[in-house]
Amino acid sequence: MRKPIIAGNWKMNKTAEEAKALIKYLIPLVSDADNVDVIVCPPFVNLAAAAEVLSGSNIKLGAQNMHFEKSGAYTGEVSADMLLAYGVKYVILGHSERRQYFGETDEGVNKKVKVALQAGLVPIVCVGETLEERESGITSEIVCKQTKLALLGLSAEEVKGVVLAYEPIWAIGTGKTATADDANDTIGAIRNAVKEVFGDDAAQSIRIQYGGSMKPANASELMAKPEIDGGLIGGAALKAEDFSKIVKF
Ligand code: 13P
Repeated sequence: MRKPIIAGNWKMNKTAEEAKALIKYLIPLVSDADNVDVIVCPPFVNLAAAAEVLSGSNIKLGAQNMHFEKSGAYTGEVSADMLLAYGVKYVILGHSERRQYFGETDEGVNKKVKVALQAGLVPIVCVGETLEERESGITSEIVCKQTKLALLGLSAEEVKGVVLAYEPIWAIGTGKTATADDANDTIGAIRNAVKEVFGDDAAQSIRIQYGGSMKPANASELMAKPEIDGGLIGGAALKAEDFSKIVKF
């Protein structure tokens, strides 16, 4: 019922020329993937170049962050309107690297989610626990709280248009993946948290991705789990062959 969604988060990688080359290589590899939403999220400065080569393909464009104000004195920031002007459809919000290195808070993420939805962008909202939190047995509490705070004040209808990404922080870029069963259980807990606040319809509609060392070798096992609706891919998204194999899980 929920359409799978595979998104590549390129993080701070690739120049504009490299971005174009990667996308040109990727397009034919995923052109027949019509049962999956395929998204690439290059750095801001490559959005124009990416949009140019993506035109006419089945791959959608995403950004990695966005500011919650429309415009103004926010040096170094980018607004929803600026993203829309490049044909951006999705925006990753609250990635753990932004929370960890750039001081993003649940409150700030919530503001951004609201602004993105108002602007017509699909937010991909990241939640996830640290290794210490996992070892303390509080994974579900942490990710459910992050989820509820990110979605605070939205209507059930709006929630259906959000994408969540469960990314255990200890699994990002480490080669360690949550087991498919663990990821499925935690995503099930997140879905239940959505149900508590927004009802069953919203909970059954919202798509929830897994992210953290997802690669061709583990994609099919993760995607076979009933709660897992997609992947948010870091390292493996930088190689067209690997990313296309994940798209075709
Ligand atoms: P890796 O796939 O490199 O572990 O990164 C996951 C991630 O953070 C995607 O947003």
